[in-house]
Amino acid sequence: MWRAASKQVIRTVGSSLSDLSPLAKQLHVLYPVSRLSSLRKASPGSKKIVGVFYKANEYAAKNPNFLGCAERSLGIREWLESQGHQYIVTDDKEGPNSELEKHIPDLHVLITTPFHPAYVTAERIKKAKNLQLLLTAGIGSDHIDLKAAADAGLTVAEVTGSNVVSVAEDELMRILILIRNFVPGYQQVINGEWNVAAIAYRAYDLEGKTVGTVGAGRIGKLLLQRLKPFNCNLLYHDRLKIDPALEKEIGAKFEEDLDVMLPKCDIIVINTPLTEKTRGLFDKERISKLKKGVLIVNNARGAIMDTQAVVDACSSGHIAGYSGDVWNPQPAPKDHPWRYMPNHAMTPHISGTTIDGQLRYAAGVKDMLDKYFKGEDFPQQNYIVKEGKLASQYL
Ligand SMILES: NC(=O)c1ccc[n+]([C@@H]2O[C@H](COP(=O)([O-])OP(=O)(O)OC[C@H]3O[C@@H](n4cnc5c(N)ncnc54)[C@H](O)[C@@H]3O)[C@@H](O)[C@H]2O)c1
Repeated sequence: MWRAASKQVIRTVGSSLSDLSPLAKQLHVLYPVSRLSSLRKASPGSKKIVGVFYKANEYAAKNPNFLGCAERSLGIREWLESQGHQYIVTDDKEGPNSELEKHIPDLHVLITTPFHPAYVTAERIKKAKNLQLLLTAGIGSDHIDLKAAADAGLTVAEVTGSNVVSVAEDELMRILILIRNFVPGYQQVINGEWNVAAIAYRAYDLEGKTVGTVGAGRIGKLLLQRLKPFNCNLLYHDRLKIDPALEKEIGAKFEEDLDVMLPKCDIIVINTPLTEKTRGLFDKERISKLKKGVLIVNNARGAIMDTQAVVDACSSGHIAGYSGDVWNPQPAPKDHPWRYMPNHAMTPHISGTTIDGQLRYAAGVKDMLDKYFKGEDFPQQNYIVKEGKLASQYL
């Protein structure tokens, strides 16, 4: 069963924007002010803003820049309250008796994060009569029913680009962990064992292997750039081709047909959003056509994979290693089969919530709130739903 969430409303522990590091302050001005006419000016007066973040408990006080947790609430409480707004923060997000549910009928803005997703269903949207703005602290807004949000005329925006370095670095780490068969070696050490053969019989170099990314947007491109010095054969599939100069510099080859690319890959990395087109993309049939012994890294979204098909392929050895930090649903229940399948190197959803990533997405959320209060538009790339329309890759 899922961990029982506390129903306590959490107050920040004194972190205002003035507590931000110079890095965060600098990042704060990186988001350019665009004055387009289309954003509805927020009506004057106090707004009720609700934030749903993961709780940090004893870890909250360990780092003043740990802004992404419920206790620090992105470091914007003082700023919001000084302007007369109400800021409610909780980690209690599930079900009809949750703290979030209580505030749905009268909140104006809901800030959520993919790391502890508050599922914003059509039903919740219908109940939220005052809701205007849904902000994602991070990247990936699939926890929101985007069609229902568009139909209700809501704005959905995320902090595009905020944690792409964090995720690309993490993917590179996971590729290396899998190809070197690192996890069983680590487990041996913990268990007081020493068996070189048990690791070495299927540990390989990364050099010379074919790595394909499904999706070469911000994260996919960074990953390809970081892989270049490893002398791999790099492939990518996307709706769009990378700019030719960058493509040449990275040395990655475009594959228009996903099903032509996938069987060539020793390592597959998923870097698309979860959309109606990518949900369940890796089903039993598609996985059966992959190279035997393929390694898969998925930090994109758990629901892009068919859960049971991954379990079966890891159990048979068809997938020799599966790693990622995204699950369906989140938090993953204790009996989620990916916890128990062989050949995995899974973690909780952590890759995009490094302290550096948190500073960037906290600054980005503050910037968008500021623009919302002033009736200004957000940076165009941040919009997932605007004026009843979904961003093109979600269509
Ligand atoms: N694990 C984490 O902590 C974490 C953090 C950030 C982002 N993410 C996930 O990674 C995803 C990608 O992030 P990004 O910043 O690179 O986004 P992005 O929008 O820059 O790139 C997404 C790419 O996917 C491509 N794409 C979309 N649908 C496609 C389809 N059906 N077929 C082929 N290509 C398709 C797009 O053309 C685009 O190039 C996010 O949507 C999110 O789900 C995870």
